[in-house]
Amino acid sequence: MPRQIRLNAFDMNCVGHIQHGMWAHPRDRSMHYTDLDHWVSLAQTLERGLFDGLFLADILGVYDVFDGQPDASLRNAVQIPVNDPLLLVPAMAYATQNLGFGVTCNLTYEPPYTFARRMSTLDHLTKGRIGWNVVTGYLDSAARGMGLAQQPEHDSRYDVAEEYMQVVYRLWEGSWEDAAPLHDRERRLYADPARIHRVKHEGRHYKVDAIHLSEPSPQRTPVLYQAGASARGREFAAAHAECIFVNGQFRHNVRDIVADIRAQAKTCGRDPHDIKVFVGATVVVAPTDAEAQDKLAEYRAYASSEGALAHYSASVGIDFSRYGPDEPIRFVSNNAMRSNLEAITVRSRGSEWTLRKLMQMMVLGSRQAPIVGSPSHVADEMLAWMDEADVDGFNLSRTVVPECVEDFVALVVPELQSRGVMKQAYAPGTLREKLFGRAGRLPPSHPAARCRW
Ligand SMILES: Cc1cc2nc3c(=O)[nH]c(=O)nc-3n(C[C@H](O)[C@H](O)[C@H](O)COP(=O)(O)O)c2cc1C
Repeated sequence: MPRQIRLNAFDMNCVGHIQHGMWAHPRDRSMHYTDLDHWVSLAQTLERGLFDGLFLADILGVYDVFDGQPDASLRNAVQIPVNDPLLLVPAMAYATQNLGFGVTCNLTYEPPYTFARRMSTLDHLTKGRIGWNVVTGYLDSAARGMGLAQQPEHDSRYDVAEEYMQVVYRLWEGSWEDAAPLHDRERRLYADPARIHRVKHEGRHYKVDAIHLSEPSPQRTPVLYQAGASARGREFAAAHAECIFVNGQFRHNVRDIVADIRAQAKTCGRDPHDIKVFVGATVVVAPTDAEAQDKLAEYRAYASSEGALAHYSASVGIDFSRYGPDEPIRFVSNNAMRSNLEAITVRSRGSEWTLRKLMQMMVLGSRQAPIVGSPSHVADEMLAWMDEADVDGFNLSRTVVPECVEDFVALVVPELQSRGVMKQAYAPGTLREKLFGRAGRLPPSHPAARCRW
């Protein structure tokens, strides 16, 4: 059987996520992000299209690197205003049965003890459909909001994350034994104290002496997502992640990153295919290639290159308002998204990037060139990515909502199914069981498994 494609919808609890300016399109509904109906309806459409998950991004700061201020981001609603992603999940989970929810939470600014409980609560409420996108942040504006002068140094954020993972694994996996909850009305025993263990941790960054507050949830540890692609980021991903998000314009670049992560996972004693890799993509589809090109032109009229530049400046930590149109973009070591900057500097394989070239890529208000065409053209492109870059699936960002999701479900999903690369129905079980096609918890090769009581 050919490899089955995995699909995540990529979204955020805000107006402008990746394709900036689309909110102004007359048919776009992203301004309804404060309305639960908007999210419930999205989740139901995704479930109709057998999407594996809805991945919700989040940031705790504002993009204020472009021109040294947040004005361009505020004018264009570039991930600001932004609401809490976790609070959307229970309503969407209530309205669906199978869709997974990957939610971004930044560990730099929250103690592991309270965070572990919040994830367990969501794992209970979703009946085992929750995932956590482990991020450490990349914005100084977030650090300032949290009372720090600037964010911690790039690689040391991953060191803190290593310790954080050890603590949350122990809370999720090591505190309550499976047999601890007795739920025994006759003997009036809710839980067996002898089977509930205190987690004592005293490390460089965290100190915990507590039992986990939640009783065991279906997955215990949520499905772990990660998106760091720098050398240190990949090392972390290879050790911990079950799903990895990568971005890239070119298949050969992404293939190198994926090969490295899978090789490192093997070195850590993991099966390299215990990691599902999702590449970011934007799709504009219509019944024919010509209609899709017309749709792209129509969307394009609303794209904001100012918004795209404000986003990109903050992502890579470079103020592009200071660059001339044809000045080559240079690598500087900073604390933002290192891999993104490397992709257009040291890893650009001889082709020099300039502001003009970046702006040419920003056709829909982001730096991601969209896949545009008929269902068969889109499916060809997606399958070429899977073959050539060894990715397992896609992280599909929105353009004009909800029509972009509805079009994809109506046109591309049946095409993928007819080619035998997409499921006809959801598999049973938790999100982890659905994704990896095997029952039970994290495999023994995963570091969380070593934290069981
Ligand atoms: C698809 C994708 C989604 C991401 N979502 C978030 C997010 O929601 N919040 C966040 O703080 N960082 C997010 N990141 C940033 C990563 O967590 C990480 O900081 C970034 O990829 C740079 O990692 P590196 O410095 O190891 O290269 C995302 C990255 C990618 C590729």
